[in-house]
Amino acid sequence: MMDNLARTMERKMESWGLDPSSNGKPEPIQCKKCGKDKPIAEIKHPITGKKRWVHCACPCEIERLENEKEEQKQKVKRNKIEKMLKISSEMKNIQSLTFDSFEGRKGTERTKNAVMGAVNNFKDRQQKGLFIFGETGNGKSHLTAAGGNELIKQGYAVIFITEQDLFKRLDATKNFKNEESFHEIMNACIEADLMIWDDFLSSQTLNKDERNYIFQIVNGRERANKPIWFTSNVTEREFSSDGIQYKLDDKGRTWWRIIGNSDCVLNTASNHRKAKAMAQALGISIDEYENRNY
Ligand SMILES: Nc1ncnc2c1ncn2[C@@H]1O[C@H](COP(=O)(O)OP(=O)(O)OP(=O)(O)O)[C@@H](O)[C@H]1O
Ligand SMILES: [Mg+2]
Ligand SMILES: [Zn+2]
Repeated sequence: MMDNLARTMERKMESWGLDPSSNGKPEPIQCKKCGKDKPIAEIKHPITGKKRWVHCACPCEIERLENEKEEQKQKVKRNKIEKMLKISSEMKNIQSLTFDSFEGRKGTERTKNAVMGAVNNFKDRQQKGLFIFGETGNGKSHLTAAGGNELIKQGYAVIFITEQDLFKRLDATKNFKNEESFHEIMNACIEADLMIWDDFLSSQTLNKDERNYIFQIVNGRERANKPIWFTSNVTEREFSSDGIQYKLDDKGRTWWRIIGNSDCVLNTASNHRKAKAMAQALGISIDEYENRNY
């Protein structure tokens, strides 16, 4: 009697497409994408403790979703890089400024090492930036741009901007017809993974607004743990003078924040623009000209 009932039950289950020997384990479903059987797992209800079988997402589907997420992340990253480059100063040949195209001239070694070190340890250095100063034309912008290019290749968003340009663009936002708002530029300057501040202190005197811009960016980036690489024509003498700290504010707050967050390097190389022009004028190579002068 019992046997009969069990057999009837089994037949009934089979007719419903269920396998009676499997404790309710369902037939696999094929994935519509790859055609393979989707995995089946037995899970426990979190409250009742009752176990039941479920069809899981196919691994191909999970992979697709993960790829989509990664793509989305890359897209956000690329957009950020684009945004920063749009705010950057016009530098037609910025891509040609690489470490490879930089000749190892006397006096540039420490600058080159500092920039390369800052690139290689970019993440670990956090808000630790660079302050590269020295004579005009001796490779400060070239080297920092080379480092910035390297980081852009690695997916970092880099703003490369001259001080003059930065002030001009921020001032232009006072005109209500301007398409860029003050906050757009300011936020970009604070959000960029790296800001390269070219020609720092190039203005002889700073007005109240300009001092304010500098403080906001320096302070904002310090709080966000993000570095600034400065290049500047300040001389060794100016750099070590007492007066320099008061150029930015009357308490020296901004200057000491900058210095505290920077590895400072004096680039002692001579003016490459001059060497190039002189070599050309004399009909000799730059190397020959330089060897003659050392
Ligand atoms: N060691 C070098 N090898 C090759 N090119 C160089 C080197 N140093 C400088 N140059 C080139 O000389 C020009 C001036 O260099 P750069 O703009 O880097 O100078 P700078 O130190 O930033 O000058 P400034 O203080 O006036 O801004 C650029 O075209 C740069 O590519
Ligand atoms: Mg420069
Ligand atoms: Zn699949």
